[in-house]
Amino acid sequence: MSRAAPETRLHGRVALITGGNRGIGLAIAHALAAEGCDLIITGRDQSLLKKAGRELARWGIRVLAETCDVRDSGSVEAMFTGAKKKFRRVDILINNAGTAHSNLKVDELPIEDWKRVIETNLTGMFLVTRAALPLMKRGGTIVNNLSIAATRTFPGSSAYNASKHGALGFTNTLREELRPKGIRVIALMPGATDTDIWNTLWPEAPRKKMMVPKTVATAVVNALVLPANSTVEELAILPSAGTL
Ligand SMILES: NC(=O)c1ccc[n+]([C@@H]2O[C@H](COP(=O)([O-])OP(=O)(O)OC[C@H]3O[C@@H](n4cnc5c(N)ncnc54)[C@H](OP(=O)(O)O)[C@@H]3O)[C@@H](O)[C@H]2O)c1
Repeated sequence: MSRAAPETRLHGRVALITGGNRGIGLAIAHALAAEGCDLIITGRDQSLLKKAGRELARWGIRVLAETCDVRDSGSVEAMFTGAKKKFRRVDILINNAGTAHSNLKVDELPIEDWKRVIETNLTGMFLVTRAALPLMKRGGTIVNNLSIAATRTFPGSSAYNASKHGALGFTNTLREELRPKGIRVIALMPGATDTDIWNTLWPEAPRKKMMVPKTVATAVVNALVLPANSTVEELAILPSAGTL
């Protein structure tokens, strides 16, 4: 790990990553840190968050690691109060926090799982975006981590599918609302990536065929560094083995 130099491509930008304490979010955090971004990372697990914050600070950037449950508007507001105090603005928002449920058909799925997944993946994205917008200006970018489950359906994943299809509708609406303001909105749609989420989704899934989180992070950075008058509106990135 080397110190982020002034010539890095995103030097001095401020990026906020929800679910930045592990998995794809943490990989994106490292990739942005390597490009010189200052970071706000969030998650519920404080000890993981602190550990991630310490690792990221080694890039020589400024890091704020704040606990936040994206389902809770009070928790989101409190996190943004801290972020505003330290950085005053957000240039890049990565809505990444997400959760899944076990493979259960509709007639077997408990309401608690339905609510947890919809409230995290869909309502959480709305709450964080709404709170971030006053801190964002022309030239900013929002990346919403959806999934290929935003356009394809997987039996046994109804709440996850519904949350991601809904989040794609939210993302497409947001893009049109923000187009006149010069804020780009990217729908990130990864296929299977080797993270903890598979312990819930499908524990026996063939991990060797999956992408590593760093690959998704590389694709995100490549989209972010495009000239401001261009954008990747949908970024679908899949294992070459297919949808598994
Ligand atoms: N892995 C894949 O194959 C894949 C493919 C396509 C899309 N995705 C999407 O990628 C995103 C990240 O998932 P991952 O694969 O990296 O899984 P992961 O390792 O399980 O990470 C999930 C992240 O979301 C955070 N999170 C979960 N619930 C939260 C809540 N209520 N409030 C705040 N943060 C919360 C977690 O932190 P805490 O638990 O500490 O809160 C963690 O940082 C998700 O949106 C997922 O749907 C994953």
